[in-house]
Amino acid sequence: MKILITGGCGFLGSNLSNFFLKKNYEVFIIDSLVRRGSDINLSWLKNSTNHKNLKNFQIDIKNKNKLENIFEVNGPFDYICHVAGQVAMTTSLKDPRTDLETNLIGTFNVLEAMRKYSPHSLLAYSSTNKVYGDLGWLNYKEMSTRFSVSEYPEGFNENLPLDFSTPYGCSKGSADQYVRDWARIYGLKTVVFRHSSIYGGRQYASKDQGWIGWFCKKAIEQKKQQKSNQKLLPFTISGSGKQVRDVLHADDLVNLYEKAFFAKEKLNGEIFNIGGGLENSLSLLELFNLLSELLDIEQLSYNKLPRRQSDQDFFVASIKKAKIKLGWEPKINYKKGIKDMISWTSTLI
Ligand SMILES: NC(=O)c1ccc[n+]([C@@H]2O[C@H](COP(=O)([O-])OP(=O)(O)OC[C@H]3O[C@@H](n4cnc5c(N)ncnc54)[C@H](O)[C@@H]3O)[C@@H](O)[C@H]2O)c1
Repeated sequence: MKILITGGCGFLGSNLSNFFLKKNYEVFIIDSLVRRGSDINLSWLKNSTNHKNLKNFQIDIKNKNKLENIFEVNGPFDYICHVAGQVAMTTSLKDPRTDLETNLIGTFNVLEAMRKYSPHSLLAYSSTNKVYGDLGWLNYKEMSTRFSVSEYPEGFNENLPLDFSTPYGCSKGSADQYVRDWARIYGLKTVVFRHSSIYGGRQYASKDQGWIGWFCKKAIEQKKQQKSNQKLLPFTISGSGKQVRDVLHADDLVNLYEKAFFAKEKLNGEIFNIGGGLENSLSLLELFNLLSELLDIEQLSYNKLPRRQSDQDFFVASIKKAKIKLGWEPKINYKKGIKDMISWTSTLI
């Protein structure tokens, strides 16, 4: 089995690479190492089980010629996990061109290289729930720690109307549609996963992306301040803190990508909303309560900033379609997952 993982040194990518290396597959990584921490993930992978089956190429997916050369020389691949990307909405506002070129042109380059040199692969693309916009047209109920939406008791399914917003939403959403369409128009095997928030080991969270990891870091810092009898230095949050996401652990994510490969014959541009589902949904305030409990801090200290542009008050994926078509569902409860996340984040401080 030959697997190509674009962005293979990032958070999702290094978890996928490690998982498939352990299964004794040949893993080919394409990563420009632009993300902080990706070089460390690469060194980690080079020390992992079966690292002899790992080949990495430090190139930019925007570079069509270099990308095609890798496909021509090393392909065809059985499976392509395309998870390289510009990942932060806030960064996309500051530099929309790089966002567009990375997420849309980069994805287009991957699709075209596949069509030329690896037309029988399955390509899985990591899209985002941001393709649905801010969902401001829904009726929200504000409760003490979270927002809720009564019209969608099981979460949002894939029939929600597309409504790209922010450069990140536009670039990811357009790429999502290209991946879907290359199955219809050229008969390639592709699948699109519209992800909610994912967390877990190998994630180098920042203020702009990876909120679970970021707030774990802030809580651990406050724990240290508490221990040394210092005044807690407040961190900031955007919005009320009642915004809700269904969170998914990286171990559940890698199982999803494997299940998709087994279901390859059924996947002709299929779209799946993917998240931890309703039972793994959390608001920021609920995360803070859990972190306070796990770290034994009476109350985390934070200040509120205005809400982020196009932020969703509530997103929980209905994972019914993935359960039925792929036989996949998350196994890691968020309480256990966040304990693990505290352990991982502690190693970074
Ligand atoms: N992490 C989440 O919660 C989440 C949620 C929704 C969607 N996604 C999507 O999943 C994908 C992976 O996310 P992640 O959290 O692993 O991000 P990440 O930043 O950790 O990983 C992305 C990797 O891509 C590489 N990369 C970026 N631009 C590149 C380029 N032009 N050429 C080659 N490599 C490049 C980076 O160096 C990095 O290693 C992204 O496409 C993101 O939009 C992630």
